[in-house]
Amino acid sequence: MARRRQIYEGRAKILFEGPEAGTIVQHFKDDATAFNASKQGVITGKGVLNNRISEYLMLRLHEIGVPTHFIRRLNMREQLVREVEMIPVEVVVRNIAAGTLSERFAIPEGTPLPRTILEYCFKSDELADPFVSEEHITAFEWASPQDMDDMVSMTLRVNDFLTGLFLGIGIRLVDFRLEFGRLWDADQMRIVVADEISPDSCRLWDAKTNEKMDKDRFRRDLGNVEDAYQEVARRLGILPESGPRDMQGPKVMQ
Ligand code: C5P
Repeated sequence: MARRRQIYEGRAKILFEGPEAGTIVQHFKDDATAFNASKQGVITGKGVLNNRISEYLMLRLHEIGVPTHFIRRLNMREQLVREVEMIPVEVVVRNIAAGTLSERFAIPEGTPLPRTILEYCFKSDELADPFVSEEHITAFEWASPQDMDDMVSMTLRVNDFLTGLFLGIGIRLVDFRLEFGRLWDADQMRIVVADEISPDSCRLWDAKTNEKMDKDRFRRDLGNVEDAYQEVARRLGILPESGPRDMQGPKVMQ
């Protein structure tokens, strides 16, 4: 088999050229970074779990009519996605105070917010993803006002849906980050959800105990990181069938 061409290697994923034009293979690594990569580590099996969790959530979004870049899972660590033009903006959605919002405004973690708050960051490793306003985004033409409208309405829909989905399995969706891309079909363009949705990009707390079930366990050295990701997958009903042995991948299963 011909070697695939690597397009990009990020902190948690590698992108390869896909088998057909306009497709990309997204490979999920076990590498974990935090605080703009000043903290680095490995969460064994994370790539396998995030591949499954993101697949599951993207498929559920597709079912409710939210377009995503996801096509299908290829194997334990890889999924096929549509090639999109990434919008260099992270949309952060907050339902409950935590993380940098709690730090900035001295609001204790766990305080419910009066309403859902959206924040935007410019995606830049060199600049450590600075906060930006809608004014910056449209003035610098990272996204048009119409793109912003689409991103905001999709984000709120995703938040409503995922909040309910997670509550159904005893998990509070505290906050999360979404990324979007432009998908071109001839000369038609639409904005779709891209990248991944996983415990790397969401804060997930057990609804009864408030125990953290996400990357904060790694960021804050809380231990049992692998168990937490596995528990999210288990509750979603998507734990790899044969347990940890199934988590070595990649293994093609069309
Ligand atoms: O760190 P902060 O509180 O700003 O993060 C808010 C949410 O966005 C968290 O769920 C975090 O996992 C996610 N996030 C992310 N990638 C970033 C920054 C934040 O997934 N670069």
